[in-house]
Amino acid sequence: FQGSLIEQDLTGQHWVITAGPTMESIDPVRYISNHSSGKMGYALASAAIARGARVTLVSGPVQLTPPTGANIIAVKSADEMLAACEQSMSTQADVFIGAAAVADFKMKAASDQKMKKQSDTDEMTLTLVKNPDIIATLVLQKRAKTIIGFAAETQNVTEYAKSKLERKGLDIIIANDVSRSDIGFNQDENQVTVITKDKTWSPDKAAKSDLANQLVEFIQQYIKSAI
Ligand code: CTP
Ligand code: CA
Repeated sequence: FQGSLIEQDLTGQHWVITAGPTMESIDPVRYISNHSSGKMGYALASAAIARGARVTLVSGPVQLTPPTGANIIAVKSADEMLAACEQSMSTQADVFIGAAAVADFKMKAASDQKMKKQSDTDEMTLTLVKNPDIIATLVLQKRAKTIIGFAAETQNVTEYAKSKLERKGLDIIIANDVSRSDIGFNQDENQVTVITKDKTWSPDKAAKSDLANQLVEFIQQYIKSAI
């Protein structure tokens, strides 16, 4: 019923969306990750599919049912996520949305055996190195015509998000305040501020599915007016 009423105005477009956390191996039984649920990315995928887009959803490990009609690529680490994004955009996509909470660091050298406690010390030091910046890499490679990032911040939300927009060369950044426990990570609702080079828009707090529809509408308007 609902599907038949939604205008299929994204027909012919390919959208690639990342979602969820990444999981970085420490050893065969342990990992570094974060609390991202993947809900926002999955909601965006559903909203784009409902309007007729072909959607590739590159997903870190999450407990969600894949949206019907999405081409799901399941990944664990940031390195795998980047490779999957590059592969799915071997032909330039229309839209890329980086909704994943990519782990900023990975082990410099993950252990291939389970690490054992040392008996002579109470301390443990892991040496980490930066993960690739997936979205910045995709911008440099021009993998999509329009590239949208998220900015998870706990303070100076708009200011930090603006600097990320510029630093990474994004078209749009969607900022959310992850210090609030009622929205964001693992919640069903979200409140965001959408920032472009010359516009700032703060839609009301809403269910992630409602918000996803509004964000897809904003992106579509942005694409139309940028032409
Ligand atoms: N991102 C990415 N690859 C990374 C880190 C982040 O693609 N290695 C993307 C996220 O998917 C998001 C955007 O960059 O779309 C911003 O992520 P965020 O964690 O807020 O920014 P960082 O650049 O990692 O900066 P910091 O965590 O230090 O604030
Ligand atoms: Ca980060």
